[in-house]
Amino acid sequence: MCGIVGYVGDDSAKEVILTGLQALEYRGYDSAGIALSKNGKLLIRKESGELKNLVKRTQAKDFEAHIGIGHTRWATHGSPTRENAHPHVSQDGRIAIVHNGIIENYQELRQWLTKEHNIEFKSVTDSEAIAHLVSIYYKGDLLEAVMTATEKLSGAYAIGVIACDNPDEIVAARMDAPLITGIGENGNYLASDSPALLKYTRDIYVIENGEYVVITKDNIRIMDKDGTRIRRQSTHVDLDAAAAEKGGHPHFMIKEIYEQPEKVKEALKIRLDKHNNVKLEGIHFTKAQLEGFDRVYIVACGTAYHAGLIGKYAIEKYAKIPVEVDVASEFRYRDPFVDDKTLVICISQSGETSDTLEALREAKKRGGRILSLVNVVGSSVARESDDVLYTWAGLEIAVASTKAYTTQLICLYLVALYMGKVKGSIDTEHYRTVIDELLLIPEKLETVIRSERRIRELAEDVYKKEQIFFIGRGVDVATSLEGSLKLKEISYINSFAIAAGELKHGTIALIRRGTLFLALATQDKVYEKMISNIEEIKARKAFVVTISKDSRKSIEKVADRTLYIPDCIDDLTPILAVVPLQLFSYHIAKLRGKEIDKPRNLAKSVTVE
Ligand code: G6P
Repeated sequence: MCGIVGYVGDDSAKEVILTGLQALEYRGYDSAGIALSKNGKLLIRKESGELKNLVKRTQAKDFEAHIGIGHTRWATHGSPTRENAHPHVSQDGRIAIVHNGIIENYQELRQWLTKEHNIEFKSVTDSEAIAHLVSIYYKGDLLEAVMTATEKLSGAYAIGVIACDNPDEIVAARMDAPLITGIGENGNYLASDSPALLKYTRDIYVIENGEYVVITKDNIRIMDKDGTRIRRQSTHVDLDAAAAEKGGHPHFMIKEIYEQPEKVKEALKIRLDKHNNVKLEGIHFTKAQLEGFDRVYIVACGTAYHAGLIGKYAIEKYAKIPVEVDVASEFRYRDPFVDDKTLVICISQSGETSDTLEALREAKKRGGRILSLVNVVGSSVARESDDVLYTWAGLEIAVASTKAYTTQLICLYLVALYMGKVKGSIDTEHYRTVIDELLLIPEKLETVIRSERRIRELAEDVYKKEQIFFIGRGVDVATSLEGSLKLKEISYINSFAIAAGELKHGTIALIRRGTLFLALATQDKVYEKMISNIEEIKARKAFVVTISKDSRKSIEKVADRTLYIPDCIDDLTPILAVVPLQLFSYHIAKLRGKEIDKPRNLAKSVTVE
């Protein structure tokens, strides 16, 4: 999704901005641009496609200045052309702006600007209107102009603005789109996300909704909408710079798959006390409170939604509360039954996904108690929730989520166990068994990762298939959905996941000789039923690859190819079974020569509706 970087100080603004934009590349974009302010003029370079195109166009020695703003754009309004790329410049050439978010009233603004101010728009974006608005109100005080302009905007925005006759200031504003400022020694920074600034500073101010900032070389002034100064503690970003590098791996995705045993171990370790009882940092529910919840909603998007599907099984089983899982973009518009007896669990890696954030706000408005599972510390979802449980997966760069997913699963199991224990709805023996089994998961994940060669060989045999089906029963349905999404995201193969029992009600019509199925059969409870479903598709000449527990070697009688995960209790197989699917997708995409870490059209964090 779009990224913003700005800098004012003694160093080269071009260098800082390009470095920052490169660090944000992983979030997805399709064009990029820079505006510098120098000797009373704005210097603008924009390019569509990869950032290296922009780098090439900014190499000239005279394209240098000490103040500037840059942007990577993920197209919403208008295709990814040079004209639609940011920064956008006002008609009089005095103002340049970068914008993340969506301006909902841009049509009206365009009409008004065209009719009343004779503005000719150069792009078809919603953002260009902001540049013209600021310029109309700019009478020498850039902050005042930005404040007046933003009064006219409805929608979401994080904006950075510079003026050609003001070489000392960047003015920024935020409403429902992430924005931070960085405190440096040789100047100060503006960015949409902290990874953009890691090379330069780890001390930041998080800008809140409705706030404005004036950034100069020596100072960062944050103000509310009335211009009253806000004093704020800076935040130290505790991200490891090495996390933003591939560490010898060809792609971030494979590096992140390999990190899972360690990340899962960490996510567990910090939540178990010396008696191996679950303690959730800072989160306390009394028995009465938990008994007061008559339902739980889990709300999330994409991979996080799939984690939610598994969370439902765990919470219903251990805490005995009915759970409904909803994609956030649907939840917020469907009048959900949320009141003060509802616990709403929002799951988000980035904590900035617009749909999830808006669903959270809707649930809060209706009186629900919000517990979030978030990876990015200090993100909007985390800040707006009543309780937050961080997944501690570390920086996840590949668009296709892997370690964030498995750590979300760990957190969901822990929440479910915690709730069950406090409520007294899980018996001690069961509680102990699940925790003992959880403790064995990191080692078992290592074993699955060690079987990569077998998975790669399978990928080599089937990577030319144009359609792949995933089936399973129980929690394996959720794992199938996640496996199918992974494959679609990075290999662009048309894949489809369905509950195995549902296959015969329609989808079975698609099976022909050689149709590829990945059949998950990790659940002892429904193992025989799964075998019957596999027989059904085999009878129609499908090619079936199974994933089952080690001790289920009998599956070889029905399957064409088999992959195994170590034995473990049924409840926890999703953490193990997803890994062969991640590796399978990775190798298929690699064999098909795809851009694994930055798949086409996708963004790491989707900050638009
Ligand atoms: C995007 C990403 C997905 C991700 C989803 C939710 O669509 O491409 O990989 O699962 O957003 O993201 P979140 O940050 O809220 O977990």
